[in-house]
Amino acid sequence: MEPAVFNTLTELEMRDERERMQNAPVSERILALDPEAAKLLYITALGAHAKNIVEVGTNRGYSTIWLALVARQYGGKVTTCEIDPARAEEARGYFEKAGLSDYIDILVGDARETLRSFSEPVDLLFIDAVKDHYETYFDVIYKQLGVGSLVIADNAVSHGDELLDYIMYVQNHPNLESVTVPLGSGLEISVKTGE
Ligand SMILES: C[S@@+](CC[C@H](N)C(=O)[O-])C[C@H]1O[C@@H](n2cnc3c(N)ncnc32)[C@H](O)[C@@H]1O
Repeated sequence: MEPAVFNTLTELEMRDERERMQNAPVSERILALDPEAAKLLYITALGAHAKNIVEVGTNRGYSTIWLALVARQYGGKVTTCEIDPARAEEARGYFEKAGLSDYIDILVGDARETLRSFSEPVDLLFIDAVKDHYETYFDVIYKQLGVGSLVIADNAVSHGDELLDYIMYVQNHPNLESVTVPLGSGLEISVKTGE
């Protein structure tokens, strides 16, 4: 990993840690993905040759940077959705700092709306936003997933109760195989097995 990417990820990890230690209000925190979970997301996406990636929940862009490394590797891009314009703007600064802006498009607005006009094929959908809406984010993108495409959702353990409907939905879906991985806040990893 080149220094610009490493330094930007480290800066975001340190900021996240500092905010947690200071008990900053959740609304002000960057709520970055756990670094080990981010590594698993990266490795899984890389192994799956994920070229076209969609993310719901940018915040300041920590997970987006990991995903952009994969998109760059395969000549694709990450489309990341953030409802808060100020956060999206700050994330843009981090993407520039990491030298990865060319591989990231930010859709500012509610992903349940902005993604409706997104019609490209999707190799990986990463969900990390409002827990009650995971099924909706999934449904909006489902038709663009091919066999072998991945859906990875954060907080499957930390917010297991709130995500119970989503987890049951993907685990019982006839065209998916899905497993809960208890790393970080817990990732629900699903792969599409049929049309
Ligand atoms: C947990 S944070 C994402 C953290 C990020 N994935 C990371 O690892 O750095 C969740 C983000 O989702 C955004 N969000 C919430 N609801 C959304 C929606 N409907 N559409 C787009 N973004 C949304 C919030 O504003 C917040 O910044």
